[in-house]
Amino acid sequence: GAMADQERRFRDSVGDLAAGPTEPRRTAHRPPAGPRFTNTTDSDPALPETRAWAADAVATTPPALTSRMLGSAAEVDDVVATGRDAQPVWAARPGRERAAVLRRAADELEARRGALVTVMAAEGGKTVAEADPEVSEAIDFARYYADRAEELDGRGLLTDGAVFTPPVLTLVTPPWNFPVAIPTGGVLAALAAGSAVVIKPAHPVPGCTETAMAALHAAGVPGDVLQVVRTDEREVGRALVSHEGVDTVILTGAAETAEMFASWRTGRPGGPRVLGETSGKNSLVITPAADYDLAVADLVRSAFGHAGQKCSAASLVILVGSAGRSERLHRQLVDAVTSLRVGWPTDLGTTMGPVIEPPTGKLHRAQTTLDAGESWLVEPRSLDDTGRLWSPGLKDGVAAGSFFHQTECFGPVLGIMRVETLAEAVELQNATAYGLTGGLHSLDETEIEYWLDHVEVGNAYVNRHITGAIVQRQPFGGWKASAMGPGAKAGGPNYVAELGTWAPDGVPT
Ligand code: ALA
Repeated sequence: GAMADQERRFRDSVGDLAAGPTEPRRTAHRPPAGPRFTNTTDSDPALPETRAWAADAVATTPPALTSRMLGSAAEVDDVVATGRDAQPVWAARPGRERAAVLRRAADELEARRGALVTVMAAEGGKTVAEADPEVSEAIDFARYYADRAEELDGRGLLTDGAVFTPPVLTLVTPPWNFPVAIPTGGVLAALAAGSAVVIKPAHPVPGCTETAMAALHAAGVPGDVLQVVRTDEREVGRALVSHEGVDTVILTGAAETAEMFASWRTGRPGGPRVLGETSGKNSLVITPAADYDLAVADLVRSAFGHAGQKCSAASLVILVGSAGRSERLHRQLVDAVTSLRVGWPTDLGTTMGPVIEPPTGKLHRAQTTLDAGESWLVEPRSLDDTGRLWSPGLKDGVAAGSFFHQTECFGPVLGIMRVETLAEAVELQNATAYGLTGGLHSLDETEIEYWLDHVEVGNAYVNRHITGAIVQRQPFGGWKASAMGPGAKAGGPNYVAELGTWAPDGVPT
């Protein structure tokens, strides 16, 4: 029956955690890829009320800032001690009780949907159409990790001969681009495991994370088990990340940030576990066997959703053979890109919002510079004096090994590469440091099988957009330089289990 199945899958999945990654690095997603979870992460905004309210509120509601501001390393010590003192009582609550708190958190998040959408739009420039499903994703995480907390209880530890020890204190450092779903997911996973948590919201979007954490507190997570902190000082942040009282760090952010964190932690033998989801340079392959209508729609969504500011975004399309010479595909792509309606989230007709700050560095280079062989099919332009509203860019002729082939630029620029064979396309896809998401549009089974066997990405999507992984259906995480740590995937069966340590029964951990 279903219970036995679930139990067997769970045993299979946690059996040899000590041996390393327990899920295949690459998980393939061909629609339909299993049951949709309870909410609908990839839906259009669910509630007409959300839209109506957000339209009024986006520009006017200041976020309620509730973090504890830390000004010194001594205050970091205090926060860490508070969390560690609180954890044993939380961990001692049976998993089904922690699960009940998480399910209440799902309800509290739902009750705050309008506020969460509003603050995401106001702080981060996320459109209502993208912010609303992000709330759904946070809710999905709450219900999914609640189930995992119950499994930890019910898995017959003694017969399995392994005992789970949660981290005492987990630090969650989320990114600014998914300021509700990613922090909430990390926090809920740690809470499900029985850990106390300190979360430091990303700098430009603290109100999003604070609003979400308020929902968790309202659901019954004690304030000392979940502490929300901020600091304006780099040295204080460093003291937190490198504190010996932090057992596990859940980091989502740029690869550079992960490397910086890792360097801060050197000289700390034995500790901590860092679960990192970092950068990507993701591409979508279109072969002549694709349905071009579907391919273009999925490509544009993958490239320009949240103005391209997703680790999962497609910044390259690789056209194979006659797809690269197709007038029809070319015209469809240009039409789709130029049809995006760029604007602020206050205008509900906006289909592409602003970037988080006026582009500098890599993104600015990608928007303003052409390398050898490149030309603009659609040239990006700055649309107002804020410097944040940019029209989308479509760059043709990106060469293998070039800056734009290799570099994550995190903004609304899509590059086109052309090759003759699918084998060459996969080679280009794999020839970056990263391996987060990737896509193939083809209706040819032989091509699909070939591609799935060769592409080196964590989330391999066939005939689907390559962003917006759905909890449970598409566990999310990469390999190569896109990941750090044991390799569990967020929203997948092992994530909670991999936050802690496993030891044979009777062996002290
Ligand atoms: N989980 C996010 C996505 O899949 C990053 O797009």
